[in-house]
Amino acid sequence: MKKIWLYGNWKMNMIPSEAEEYCKKLLDALKKEPGAYSKENLEICLFPPFISLPAVLASISKAGMVRAGVQDGYFEDSGAFTGEVSLKMAASAGASAALAGHSERRHIFGEENEIVAKKLHKALQIGLTGVLCFGETLAQREAGETMAVVDEQLRSAFEGLDGTEGKGLILAYEPVWAIGTGKNATPSDAQEVCAHARRLAARKFGEGDYIPVLYGGSVKESNARELLSQKDIDGALVGGASLKADSFLAIYEAFRKGFEA
Ligand code: 13P
Repeated sequence: MKKIWLYGNWKMNMIPSEAEEYCKKLLDALKKEPGAYSKENLEICLFPPFISLPAVLASISKAGMVRAGVQDGYFEDSGAFTGEVSLKMAASAGASAALAGHSERRHIFGEENEIVAKKLHKALQIGLTGVLCFGETLAQREAGETMAVVDEQLRSAFEGLDGTEGKGLILAYEPVWAIGTGKNATPSDAQEVCAHARRLAARKFGEGDYIPVLYGGSVKESNARELLSQKDIDGALVGGASLKADSFLAIYEAFRKGFEA
């Protein structure tokens, strides 16, 4: 059975007390069936809002199996950037991963490819796992522009990285129209884009370091098995269904049980 990356983006949800309760439930569930969950077959990373990162880190510290990252972070280390939290600060607080270029950052907060690249590069340079999110809008898909849009997002994010910086990189294909809509990409459409992203990454970074490719956009228990069974989909970046520990873990369970069946 292949390893699955189960990444949960909580977005602007979960105050510290809720985060603590969530982690307790998640760890209890993982402990209940220890044989089913090992580092070899599952990597879990939670992306809480900054305010709840310490609560998550304190709750998961003993478990070893669960990591925590940030949903965003500024590329400068410190200075007059009111309202920002730097990636360096996030790392020193204990985060081990950072998303870059999530569609909500791009579309609600106007982050262009250039800013996304700076954030991704900074994350990788300071040793965080950098999760590069990319994906097309519905209008772009309907206009047949998906691959061109994805190419440009990946190319601009890769530019300036050398061949060794693929270590620590994760790619997350999240079609904008599938996020929070309940309408996931078909497994074959998701596979096609993820395979394409994998090829582009291999061309840039070589075949040496394995760069996981995740799919995100309305992933839930009922569609997890088919999506995660695709050859070039290594895991899921989950929004809504990650907000409850049981529905989050059910995504992995659907894959595992499907595999065992
Ligand atoms: P949903 O799973 O709620 O569609 O969100 C996906 C997402 O944006 C994860 O980063």
